[in-house]
Amino acid sequence: MGMNVDKVTIRGGRPLVGRIEVKGAKNLVTKAMVAALLGETPSLLKDVPNISDVRIVRGLLEVHGVKVTEGDEPGDMILDPVDVESAHFAAIDAHAGSSRIPILFCGPLLHRLGEAFIPDLGGCRIGDRPIDFHLEVLRKFGAVVEKQPNGIRMSAPNGLKGAKLELPYPSVGATEQVLLTAVRADGITELKNAAIEPEIMDLIHILQKMGAIITVDTDRVIRIEGVDKLDGYTHRALFDRNEAASWAAAALATQGDIFVGGARQPEMLTFLNVFRKVGGAFDIHDDGIRFYHPGGDLKPVIIETDVHPGFMTDWQQPLVIALTQAHGTSIVHETVYEQRFGFVDALVKMGATIQIHRECLGGHPCRFGQRNFNHSAVITGPTKLYGADIEVPDLRGGFSHLIAALTAEGSSTVSNVGIISRGYENFITKLRLLGADFDLEA
Ligand code: EPZ
Repeated sequence: MGMNVDKVTIRGGRPLVGRIEVKGAKNLVTKAMVAALLGETPSLLKDVPNISDVRIVRGLLEVHGVKVTEGDEPGDMILDPVDVESAHFAAIDAHAGSSRIPILFCGPLLHRLGEAFIPDLGGCRIGDRPIDFHLEVLRKFGAVVEKQPNGIRMSAPNGLKGAKLELPYPSVGATEQVLLTAVRADGITELKNAAIEPEIMDLIHILQKMGAIITVDTDRVIRIEGVDKLDGYTHRALFDRNEAASWAAAALATQGDIFVGGARQPEMLTFLNVFRKVGGAFDIHDDGIRFYHPGGDLKPVIIETDVHPGFMTDWQQPLVIALTQAHGTSIVHETVYEQRFGFVDALVKMGATIQIHRECLGGHPCRFGQRNFNHSAVITGPTKLYGADIEVPDLRGGFSHLIAALTAEGSSTVSNVGIISRGYENFITKLRLLGADFDLEA
């Protein structure tokens, strides 16, 4: 899609039907690209999606001297880190964009160069999204962290040493930080309360290919024995299960039928259970999963988002649109991010009945319950949705706005859709393939 598209005018009410393909997961590919910094030889990453988060990380790697080129097949990316060098602040800052990935450069750069500079971070506005866990673990490895006006400077005057660590919460990013730092640190690292998302397991597969020694126990404990040297890797990225779940939700809400090529059952087990409970149907094939509305009424559900193997926070926003069409009252208790319901204002404007509450409504108290965060949603359906002018607030909320517009009667103008290309490859082309009726505006 042209990256300069800002607005899409959608005439809703038509089911999305057809086949689309998903490539590598945004939340693995961007980390795998950083891992290439640790190798002494080039890496080949396959199935890299053409999304703007990948372009941001590519730019950041390039300003640090990594040569990034395309390989023989579409989606192949070759990353050659042989000439890694320090980058100037202005160059780093210009490339950091609105991504949180720069924080993961710390460990690899400290190993390679003895220093790192990280600009102030962006990412979706879905809560505070602090980096305290990251800084804390880096300090325990021996990094010296110095806050500066526009970012953070780090050095490792005595090198980085393995450490005994425990995260206060199983953070995906902080677990990746530990992995990317511990693999080349001196000695053994033990991480308790680690995140174990499939994207993290795939990063571990990559690091093992490079020469790392990593053990994953059943109780969220990861042990890493540091090694002196890592080589490049060749790896096909895990598919994007968040994108697959988003198209599944779109099929359900629009009463459609979408075959998501590249989607696999194991990493979507929890999503598939909920999809079925709501009244959706799916067929698992070797080359993908068909998601469809089998007819009949959709049913309400109670969902609590959680770390893996729970229901992912990134899945709730697209699914909420289908829940506005379910017969009865659904509850979504968001326990991962404290402010991930900003997207519902637009839905209410379109006719949905959704109330947001501060209490933990799912049944289990979470860490946001006592802190006044609006983190539970009550959705009462079915309600007809009507076209409206709406603006995309964040990546997953943005995709849910597209689904709402596709489900609604009449015409909707969805603006700020550029954000969606951070994580959804060619979504405009895919919408066209699935028979959506829309016009684009720059
Ligand atoms: C990753 O974010 C993903 N992003 C998110 O996807 C995803 O929603 C999230 O993991 C949970 O699965 C990428 O992989 C680029 P966390 P991350 O650290 O690593 C708190 C999308 O739309 N926390 O697991 O940033 C934090 O505030 C994005 O694709 C701290 O308090 O998530 C949150 O409440 C959105 N201090 C919780 O932990 C820290 O230092 C989980 O965050 C770090 C995190």
